[in-house]
Amino acid sequence: MKHIVWDGDYADRAIFEDILGQLGALLWFTGLSGSGKSTIAKALQKKLIQCGTYVVVLDGDNIRHGLNSDLDFSESGRKENIRRIAEVAKLFVEHGAIVITAFISPYKSDRNSAREIVGNGLFKEIFINTPIEECIKRDPKGLYKKAISGEILQFTGISDPYEAPDNPELAIQTINLSIEESAEQIVTFLKQNGTIQ
Ligand code: ADX
Repeated sequence: MKHIVWDGDYADRAIFEDILGQLGALLWFTGLSGSGKSTIAKALQKKLIQCGTYVVVLDGDNIRHGLNSDLDFSESGRKENIRRIAEVAKLFVEHGAIVITAFISPYKSDRNSAREIVGNGLFKEIFINTPIEECIKRDPKGLYKKAISGEILQFTGISDPYEAPDNPELAIQTINLSIEESAEQIVTFLKQNGTIQ
């Protein structure tokens, strides 16, 4: 950035992690619309609060009402959506928070950029793996119906691509699990890698 000098003399992540008794991390949920990202995020948030964790949730539908209300669902709109969220998430992670983001984030390249922004060790890609047929069946917001009839264009999984992760840190097969079990699998993952006690 021209004429802007980075000032790095602020307290670093380790100080906050020490105070909070947890490690900062970004749990990057990715999956189709209706796959269960927000539902699992809410259940996980509850469990983490019960464990005394400082947790922040950034949810696609909600963020698109505010910070990202100027963005559409074109490839470039989605890319900018993800870039901003990764930057916001990084601010929280650098203050020791465990951040859950619930965005479709359909493009591998955008998710990889998010990983780079936040830092590889801090970024945990969690694939909320629900087959499209099941998402169409659930259709909690009635959006698939509209996408199939052509009322909504560029709809992920119908008229727009979804690139599933090749190597996520964790994949949740929601079709075989309850919401509770899905959230519990993530808690176990966080305990195993030392993010929480
Ligand atoms: S992303 O692709 O840019 O990551 P994001 O997670 O922010 O998407 O928003 C997805 C939510 O927006 C969906 O759950 C759905 O409720 C709504 N939505 C509206 N139009 C579309 C569309 N064309 N494609 C996908 N989701 C859409």
